[in-house]
Amino acid sequence: MPAKPSRKLEQALELALATPGFFEREELLELARIATAALGNPGPLVELGSYCGRSTVVLATVAAQASKQLISIDHHRGSEEMLPPFPYFEPALVDPFSGRFDSLGTLVETLDLAGLRSSVTMIVGGNRQAASVLRSPAAFVLIDGGHDQISPWWDLKIALQLLPRGGLLALHDVFEDPRDGGRPPYWTMTAALHLGFAPLSRQRSLATLVRVSEV
Ligand SMILES: C[S@@+](CC[C@H](N)C(=O)[O-])C[C@H]1O[C@@H](n2cnc3c(N)ncnc32)[C@H](O)[C@@H]1O
Repeated sequence: MPAKPSRKLEQALELALATPGFFEREELLELARIATAALGNPGPLVELGSYCGRSTVVLATVAAQASKQLISIDHHRGSEEMLPPFPYFEPALVDPFSGRFDSLGTLVETLDLAGLRSSVTMIVGGNRQAASVLRSPAAFVLIDGGHDQISPWWDLKIALQLLPRGGLLALHDVFEDPRDGGRPPYWTMTAALHLGFAPLSRQRSLATLVRVSEV
């Protein structure tokens, strides 16, 4: 039987589910379980795609337990599929001054509410920019960024740069059946399986892989 979530994790889950986002409760619990399992690996936890902080709060809670940092990367301009005319567009996230979509302020508010700001290093920039500077080993990487044709490949490049053997890679919104959701996250997982990762666990659309070789 799975362990009962700690009080801190329960509080984080409550806040996460009250924050705009796409992870379901069962997936967040799995995310916490996998990230906790990775804490013994060297380096920080890394998240690609923070949005308003739903998964960030859960990962930061896990990181804080081990005095690790969560590095959370997002340009905060929204993914293609989160902007008009798509149904995931959230008009409340349009900055009234600039008229542009911007989720950074909400992320910062979420982390302040959780008291977790000092456990998160936020990188506000594109994943391609981040790929050019991120080098040190990471214990865990979550890919939950853009689902267009290009962005996931930069996310995967970052995971390949950062995860040594034994490192864990979680990918969100993976659907084997195209009727259930977009293809790019599934293609990214398939590519990772050809690039030295092996399947470890699965909870709904959250697939976790472990790095078994550095090809
Ligand atoms: C699905 S949302 C992340 C959801 C978040 N993990 C949660 O739990 O709510 C995807 C995020 O990826 C970001 N994103 C999309 N393409 C990106 C890119 N090329 N570089 C950096 N961030 C990107 C978007 O701004 C968006 O906030």
